[in-house]
Amino acid sequence: MTLRLDTQHLAGFVCAEEYKAIAPQVECAHRALHEGTGLGNGFIGWVDLPANYDKEEFQRIKAAAAKIKSDTDVFIVIGIGGSYLGARAAIEFIKSPNYNALPKKTPDIYFTGNSISSSALAELLQLCEGKEVSINMISKSGTTTEPAIAFRVFRGLLEKKYGKEGAAKRIYCTTDRAKGTLKQLADKEGYETFVVPDDVGGRYSVLTAVGLLPIAVSGADIGRLMQGAAKAREELSCPDLEKNDCYRYAALRNILYRKGKEIEVLASYEPCYTLMCEWWKQLFGESEGKDGKGLFPASVIFSTDLHSMGQYIQQGRRSLFETVVLFDAVKQEICLESDAENVDGLNFLAGKSMAYINEKAFEGTVLAHTDGGVPNLVLHVRDFSEESLGYLIYFFEKACAISGYLLGVNPFDQPGVESYKKNMFALLGKPGYEEQKEALEARLHR
Ligand code: PA5
Repeated sequence: MTLRLDTQHLAGFVCAEEYKAIAPQVECAHRALHEGTGLGNGFIGWVDLPANYDKEEFQRIKAAAAKIKSDTDVFIVIGIGGSYLGARAAIEFIKSPNYNALPKKTPDIYFTGNSISSSALAELLQLCEGKEVSINMISKSGTTTEPAIAFRVFRGLLEKKYGKEGAAKRIYCTTDRAKGTLKQLADKEGYETFVVPDDVGGRYSVLTAVGLLPIAVSGADIGRLMQGAAKAREELSCPDLEKNDCYRYAALRNILYRKGKEIEVLASYEPCYTLMCEWWKQLFGESEGKDGKGLFPASVIFSTDLHSMGQYIQQGRRSLFETVVLFDAVKQEICLESDAENVDGLNFLAGKSMAYINEKAFEGTVLAHTDGGVPNLVLHVRDFSEESLGYLIYFFEKACAISGYLLGVNPFDQPGVESYKKNMFALLGKPGYEEQKEALEARLHR
C-alpha cells in the first residue's frame, strides 16, 4: 500500500457519532467535485490530470530537460507560490535538501523570484558567474511582480552572456496557453513554452509543466511520479468514507476544526520533507483560509522542533492537532556501533538503526502529545520514491478540495492575495493607482 491513514491516536478526541454525522456531507462534496457542480468548478482540471495529461508536451518536457542537463551548470527556476513550491518540494523530497552540494551529473537548481530581496537575487547572480546558465520562468498569469523582476534581471544576464539568440535557446517559459504578458514575450523572442492548463490553479499545478520540467532536470523520473498520481486517482475515487483514506483525512480534520482545534500541525521526522510541508501549507492555507474560516496550517520537523515548538505543542493552548507523515522505509541506513569505553553512555543503542531510534522518538512523542490533549492523525507512506510522492501529492490535493467543500468555501480561488498587491502597486506609483497612493501614504505618515 502506498499510503495508509492511521487513526488510533484519535481515541478520546473523535467519537463514532461525529464521524457518522459527517459521512453524508463527504458524499455531497465527492459528488460536487466529480460532477463539477461545486464552487470553483472551472479549476478542477487536476482531478483527471494524472490520466489525461498532454502526452506530447510531456515528451517535450523530457527533451527540454535532457538538453538542459547537457548544456547547463546552473538551472534557475523563477516563480512564486504555486509556481515554485511544488517543484522545489519534490526535488528536496526525491533527491535531497542538499541536492546542489551533492556529487551529481545534473545541473545545480536554484529557485528565485519568490521574494523581493535584492540580497538573495544578487547572491544568485554571483553563483552564476563563469557557469553555463538556463532559466525556467514560471507564471500562470504572466504578470506576477516578484518573478517578473527576477526574470528581467536574469534575462539581461543571459542576453549579455550569450547574445539575444543564444539566450533564447536557454530560456524556457511555463505560462498560460494563449494569454498574458509572458506568453506574448516568449512568442516574440522565440522561447520554448510549456502550458499551465486553464483549469488548473497554481497550487494544484505541480503535476503540470510547472513542476515537471524542474523535477525532470534534477534527474527524477517524472513518468513514475505521474504513475503514482494516477494510482491515487484510481484508489481515491471511491465515495465511501470507510474505504477512502483521503476522504477520511478530510472528514476528520473538519470534525476536529469544528470542535475548536483550529490549527493543524503537519509533522515529519524527515528533514527532506520540510519543503513538502511548505507546499502543503500553501495548498491548504490558500484554499481554505477565507470568509473568516479555515484551519491554520502549520508545520514542524521532528525531532528538530521538539526542541523548539515541542514545548508549545505539549503544554500551550489546546487549539491544535497534529498530522504526522511517517515513512516505512529510509533512503539510507546508519547503525550505531558499540564503543569499548562507552563514555557517552550510548551503548544501550549499539546495534540499533537510526530508523529504529526515530521510530521510538515518534512513539514517545505521539503518546506524550495525545496525553497532553493533542489529537494525532498518522499517514504512513511507503517510501521516498517518485511513485509515492505522486500519490501523496494527489492525496493532499483531493483532501484539500473535499475539505474546502466541507467547510463551505471555494477551495480554488485566492481573492485575499490581491490586497497586498494593490497597496504595493499604489505605493510604488504604478500608473492607475494614483488615488490609492495618496490615501495609503497619508495613513503611513500620520
Ligand atoms: O496558488 C496560486 O494560484 C498562487 O499561489 C499562484 O501560484 C502565485 O500567486 C503565482 O501566480 P502566477 O503563477 O500567476 O505568477
